[in-house]
Amino acid sequence: EKGGFKHFMLKEIMEQPVALENCMRGRVKQLVGPPDNQFTLLQRLQVLLSLEREILTSFQSAKRIIICACGTSWHAGLVGEYMLESLCKIPVEIEYASEFRYRSVVLRPDEDIVMVISQSGETADTLAALRHAKQAGCLVIGICNTVGSTIARETDGGIYLHAGPEIGVASTKAFTAQVLVLAMLALRIAQGRTIPDDEYKMLVKELSKLPSRITKILSENEAKICEIAKVYRYAHHCLFLGRGYNYPVALEGALKMKEISYIHAEGYPAAEMKHGPIALIDNLMPVVFIAMQDSIYDKVKSNIMEVRARKGCVIAITDEGNTELESLCEYVIHIPKVSECVSPILTVVPLQLLSYHIAVMRGCDVDMPRNLAKSVTTE
Ligand code: M6R
Repeated sequence: EKGGFKHFMLKEIMEQPVALENCMRGRVKQLVGPPDNQFTLLQRLQVLLSLEREILTSFQSAKRIIICACGTSWHAGLVGEYMLESLCKIPVEIEYASEFRYRSVVLRPDEDIVMVISQSGETADTLAALRHAKQAGCLVIGICNTVGSTIARETDGGIYLHAGPEIGVASTKAFTAQVLVLAMLALRIAQGRTIPDDEYKMLVKELSKLPSRITKILSENEAKICEIAKVYRYAHHCLFLGRGYNYPVALEGALKMKEISYIHAEGYPAAEMKHGPIALIDNLMPVVFIAMQDSIYDKVKSNIMEVRARKGCVIAITDEGNTELESLCEYVIHIPKVSECVSPILTVVPLQLLSYHIAVMRGCDVDMPRNLAKSVTTE
């Protein structure tokens, strides 16, 4: 049942290309055949979600979207916040489901849509947040993987991941599929409204290329990541830094490292480092940077230099063909170039592999880390 892999986690990391294909099946469409009057070029490449028309209309007229989730799903939600604000121009709040109903969030049923994200669809805090929002009269939309789960049943509508069962306690393919669903949703809402047609088309095309790009990352980087894992497996602390769309990936990289290898890890927005965490850096501290050549790359590069100046050991994830980081970093992992807003779907993959290999080398029970359950059904 592990398909020849040693652990479910590795199997689920490796099956991400297929999981994402399944997630996009029937949703990201390139209509085939010669152009004719029936289909404009824009209609030939599009995202179709089986959301009821009235739900789509509610999204398009929403004054605010509030996303509630826990753990890895919360990290996906944070990427979703950035996407929905940038592509759809709708204000978004991301809330820890566990905090949401214990503070006085102002909910306006005629203006706000609440979106809950959960792989299992059974997380107690997320379920409680959903019930709280429904009680307040809000439209509640779910993004779940487990078909027929409680959260999927209790929401007013939703989108399934179709990523297949996730067994390993550490969430991997669910994260990439959640971000993909959020991207498809954002594009569907934005289409013909808040983004130019050529940007829409370009992004839909990017989505369709994600599976093959992940396959490339997996096949080209595993050996190097094993080498990095070997060098840093005894680290006591580790820092993950990223900015913009890759700040949530820094959080996710740190969570993966903590939960399966028991190494203390923190994720931070790279520029916040100088407001405290920089004090931790010494020559024993691995610092993982997500440094894609995007709109904020130069700033991230200067953050790398700051770490370097304090003798920190830098591991960077950057674009294929970018050679200028080699002199500043101990290790550089190259991944295919991709549009900024969908880059988390690729940049997270090396981090999943890194935490996996470190945990295995430390003799940890990767699929069932201590004190953790796959689905947290108690508050
Ligand atoms: O099933 P959910 O997505 O609601 O689960 C939320 C968290 O419990 C979950 O993502 C947890 O943080 C994972 N173990 C992270 O790998």
